[in-house]
Amino acid sequence: MSVLVDGLRKRFGDKIALDGFDLRVRPGTVCGLLGPNGAGKTTSVRILSTLLRADGGRAEVAGFDVATHPMEVRRRIGLVGQHAAVDEVLSGRQNLELFGRLYHLGAAKARVRAAELLDRFGLADTGNKAVRHYSGGMRRRLDLAAGMILAPDVLFLDEPTTGLDPRGRNEVWDAVRSLAGDGATVLLTTQYLDEADQLVDQIAVIDAGRVIAGGSPAELKSRLGGDRIEVVVHDVGDLGTAAELLRKVADAEPERDLDRRRLSAPVRDRVAALTETVRALDAAGVPVEDIALRRPTLDEVFLTLTDGKVSA
Ligand SMILES: Nc1ncnc2c1ncn2[C@@H]1O[C@H](COP(=O)(O)OP(=O)(O)O)[C@@H](O)[C@H]1O
Ligand SMILES: [Mg+2]
Repeated sequence: MSVLVDGLRKRFGDKIALDGFDLRVRPGTVCGLLGPNGAGKTTSVRILSTLLRADGGRAEVAGFDVATHPMEVRRRIGLVGQHAAVDEVLSGRQNLELFGRLYHLGAAKARVRAAELLDRFGLADTGNKAVRHYSGGMRRRLDLAAGMILAPDVLFLDEPTTGLDPRGRNEVWDAVRSLAGDGATVLLTTQYLDEADQLVDQIAVIDAGRVIAGGSPAELKSRLGGDRIEVVVHDVGDLGTAAELLRKVADAEPERDLDRRRLSAPVRDRVAALTETVRALDAAGVPVEDIALRRPTLDEVFLTLTDGKVSA
C-alpha cells in the first residue's frame, strides 16, 4: 500500500477533526477523498504529509510510519496545498528551479527538471513569464509541477481545483490525468463529486472525520441505486399512457414531472428495459422527445450517504 491509515484521530480543543479515519491507497492509483467543507480532508493530508501529528491511530506513507519516520516519508512525497507556495515575481521556470535547489538537486539538474516539468504540464510557452501574469489554471499547474520536482512516490493534492474557473479546472484535470497515466500514486481531496468521477480510481467518502463509504465511482453509484430510465413525451397528454407502459418494465412506480413531460423509473436490466420501452411506446403510437438511461450522479449518492440512510 502506498497509503495505509488505521483509525487516525485528531482533535483541536474540543473539536474532533478526525474520528477513526481509515484509508488504503494502492500504488499507481488515484484515490479521491471526497467530502464537504470541514469533513477532515486537510487535517488528514497534513498528518499524512507529516506537517501535523495525530492524537491516535497509525498511518504509513510509501512504507514508512509518519509518526516514527517523518523524514523518510517527506523524501518520498509531494504536497500541493490549498494555498500556492510560488513566488509571483519570478517566472514559472525560475520558481521550479528554485524549488529544485531547495531540494538540493544542484543547479544543472534543477534546470533540467524545471524544463521537463514545464513541458509536462503544458507551461513550456509561458514558463518565462512572471507568475503574476498566469491564469488560475496555469498557476495551479505550476503548483503541481512544484510538487513533482522530486518525482515523489505519493503526491497529495488538497482541493486542486477549488477557486478555478471551468477552463482552469479542465486544465488541472488534464494535468492530473497525465500524472495518473504515468502511473503516479495520487491522493486528492475534493468537494466536487464530478471531479472525483472524472479523475479517480477509488473514492473514499469522508464526513465528520471518518470514511463513510468507499469504492470505485461506478461501484458507489450502483450500490446506491442502479440505472433509471427517463422518457420525455412530446405531448403532456400522453404522460399517463407512457406511465402505464413504463410500469411494466420498471422496478417501481414511475415518477412523473408534468412540467418537463418526463417520466423516470428505476430499472434492473438496463438494455432490455430500454429496448422494451422504445418498442412499447412505438406500438402505442406515443411520440417521444427523448428516452435515456441514466445512472445516479455522485451528488445524489453523496446526499444519500450523508443523510445517514446508508452506512459503510
Ligand atoms: N488548526 C485548527 N484549529 C481548530 N480547528 C481546526 C483546525 N484545523 C481544522 N480544524 C477543524 O477540524 C475540522 C476538519 O477541518 P479540515 O480538515 O480543514 O476539513 P476540510 O479540509 O475537509 O474542509 C473542521 O471542523 C475544522 O474547523
Ligand atoms: Mg480543506
